[in-house]
Amino acid sequence: MPINSTQLDGVALVVGSGRGIGKEAALSLAEAGARVVVFADMNQEWAQASSEESKTHAANKDYETSIFEMNVQDEKSVQDMVGYVVEKYGRIDYCVNGAGIDNGVHKPLADTDIEVFDRVMSINARGNLLCVRAQAAAMRKQTPKTWKSRNGTRDIGRGAIVNIASANSFAGLPGKGSYVISKHASMGITKMAGLDHSSDGIRVNAVCPTWVRTPLLDDELKANPQVKGMIDAIVPIKRAAECEEVSEAIAFLCSPASSYINGTSLIIDAGVTTTVRVF
Ligand SMILES: NC(=O)c1ccc[n+]([C@@H]2O[C@H](COP(=O)([O-])OP(=O)(O)OC[C@H]3O[C@@H](n4cnc5c(N)ncnc54)[C@H](O)[C@@H]3O)[C@@H](O)[C@H]2O)c1
Repeated sequence: MPINSTQLDGVALVVGSGRGIGKEAALSLAEAGARVVVFADMNQEWAQASSEESKTHAANKDYETSIFEMNVQDEKSVQDMVGYVVEKYGRIDYCVNGAGIDNGVHKPLADTDIEVFDRVMSINARGNLLCVRAQAAAMRKQTPKTWKSRNGTRDIGRGAIVNIASANSFAGLPGKGSYVISKHASMGITKMAGLDHSSDGIRVNAVCPTWVRTPLLDDELKANPQVKGMIDAIVPIKRAAECEEVSEAIAFLCSPASSYINGTSLIIDAGVTTTVRVF
């Protein structure tokens, strides 16, 4: 039997759930028992396909799913997304923010393309802030929940938010300045939101993976085959993470099992950031 408090029963909103880690996070939340999962993404077709797929994994007998087409770069679209979930389902218990992009080709900082920097920051940092801002504003109006465990009842607050940041929220990666800077910002957003809203009963944490096997990584490997050599050289177990190795940690951070974890990160990197490696 699973640990009781890793089960979910509430309403989830997953941003960037059309494919990749966001999609897998949404499927893991459905598998863990969420009653509702809303798939938000700029790609409506992908979101629809992921939403349909979630029905085959959902554990809750009353499971419902829907999609919301949006762009994290657009403030109104983010507000409308949160408004849609609250109006349709009454509250939001778990939010996952996974919309993100990479900065493409490796270039030293002195050669940073400012247009690329602005785009990466606009999605990974500003977009992340817009999402967390709107989600926390909605959550703080909700009734707090409690959880019954074997030693009694504990307060689990009004909601949990998980940002998909990166191991590059802590460490650099040669030639990836814009991405690394944006992911440090995402960790700053996580800490500040966790700090400012803990008294509202809202927990905000991040998962920080290194390379994860997703379509984004496939594109990167096609554009730059050297990345495979970097993974082999840097990752102690010589492989990228599977999406589920990240999405199950996200489900944990949403669950009552993590009710005392706030404003911090779970680094999922097979030990990469524990040491200095020459490659
Ligand atoms: N893949 C990796 O190796 C890896 C490692 C560490 C961190 N991450 C982070 O995980 C997150 C997800 O990465 P992934 O590899 O799953 O990417 P992905 O490209 O496979 O999926 C990203 C999803 O976000 C959506 N999206 C992108 N921009 C958007 C926008 N402006 N508004 C709304 N939706 C948008 C896309 O349509 C897509 O469905 C990113 O933040 C990424 O930086 C990825």
